Amino acid sequence: MPNVSMTVNGKAASGEVEGRTLLVGFLRDQLGLTGTHVGCDTSQCGACVVHVDGKAVKACTMLAAEADGADVKTIEGMAAPDGTLSTIQQAFQDHHGLQCGFCTPGMVMSAAALLAENASPSEQEIREYLEGNICRCTGYHNIVKAIMAAAGHDVSAIAAE
Ligand code: FES
Ligand code: FES
Repeated sequence: MPNVSMTVNGKAASGEVEGRTLLVGFLRDQLGLTGTHVGCDTSQCGACVVHVDGKAVKACTMLAAEADGADVKTIEGMAAPDGTLSTIQQAFQDHHGLQCGFCTPGMVMSAAALLAENASPSEQEIREYLEGNICRCTGYHNIVKAIMAAAGHDVSAIAAE
């Protein structure tokens, strides 16, 4: 008997979870949505960021039961059904905003939430918003550049790193 039901990437999803099951565990282990990563499990790295009712949430900090009835979006729901990347995903690709890619799902979901709140964030605002997302590879430069590009800023004068 399912005891948790939510909408995930536009589709109904339900399952039986323990009280201690984290949202990230439900998404990965029960729904097979392994694009949401677990880097720390202690709310520090941001690899697990998803959207819950339109807000960026670290899925390792929320119980699956707390998301009962919510509208959840994961990285798997970002591209169009035909595989066309979303604007923010395309910008990460175009501006080399990733290396190993481990942090990328969380970065993309955080960036998308930022742009939904603030369509034209400054470089400083982007850096501040990403405070909860750790990347061990890129030095953040190209991630910030990609988000600026996705927001419509002219980044042609910013060197790649
Ligand atoms: S796994 Fe959730 S913040 Fe690191
Ligand atoms: S691209 Fe490797 S952790 Fe960010």
